[in-house]
Amino acid sequence: MGLKRKDILAIAEMEKEEIELILQTAESFKEVSTREIKKVPTLRGKTVVNLFFEPSTRTRTSFELAAKRLSADVINISTSSSSVVKGETLLDTARNIEAMQSDIIILRHASSGAPYILARALRSAVINAGDGSHEHPSQGLLDLYTIKEKKGGIQGLKVVIVGDVLHSRVARSDIHGLKKLGAEVHLAGPPTMIPLGIEQWGVKVHYRLEEAIAGADVIILLRLQLERQGKGYLPTLREYAQLYGLNSKRVALANNGVLVMHPGPINRGVEVTPEVADGLSSVILEQVTNGVAVRMALLYLLSGEKS
Ligand code: CP
Repeated sequence: MGLKRKDILAIAEMEKEEIELILQTAESFKEVSTREIKKVPTLRGKTVVNLFFEPSTRTRTSFELAAKRLSADVINISTSSSSVVKGETLLDTARNIEAMQSDIIILRHASSGAPYILARALRSAVINAGDGSHEHPSQGLLDLYTIKEKKGGIQGLKVVIVGDVLHSRVARSDIHGLKKLGAEVHLAGPPTMIPLGIEQWGVKVHYRLEEAIAGADVIILLRLQLERQGKGYLPTLREYAQLYGLNSKRVALANNGVLVMHPGPINRGVEVTPEVADGLSSVILEQVTNGVAVRMALLYLLSGEKS
């Protein structure tokens, strides 16, 4: 069974059943990456193009590995290697790629909404790999997968998202996905980094981290966007670390077996202390492992192939 959509643009648009189908499909693909020969022929003959106009370590590599493990042909294009630097528009670039018979285009772009322009104009399936501060759906899905795998389900869990919610596409995807699957979502961060009116999304806002973390089952830390330092969002990094950095003492306020998550890249000593980032509660690297399986599921389901 495939998905009833051509593109993956935002978790906000997805039905609970579609999310569950993706998570189930990812489960069946996870085993492939543990084999000595990490490859299945599922997408042989398909062409996947990674079109990344912002830096990425995890997402780009993860989509590339996912496509290669499914035997697709993969092309990587980044800002510096594309004719966008000569003035070509995003849409013209994408149309030229499609003229070479691409099947799936994965786009990361600094502008919120950019993947929608491609999705409307192209025959190829489009996957949003992060657009501005809008959404990062494959990250949201791998976060859901990791929580479900570790906790056995998501319904009724207390999940706390900490940090720069205002600028975070991961936070938006996580909130939509977690709410659809029945979690109780709490946000914690400095008032300057929590969007006004976000309570209307059915989340509870806290400005004191300790109050948010009490009784939490999952803590998702957000990357503090250091490029925004000096723009008046925070007095200093040291103050942020003191008030919102996750340390062992704060983890102890959460429920036993709490999961500590972070989409990466982490700022050690700011969002999280090294002993927590590398400690027993941390599933940060397991998120990365699961990302490959989730992206294999997305590529497979969008390709319309039959297993
Ligand atoms: N989580 C995430 O999007 O990481 P990258 O920016 O390295 O892709």
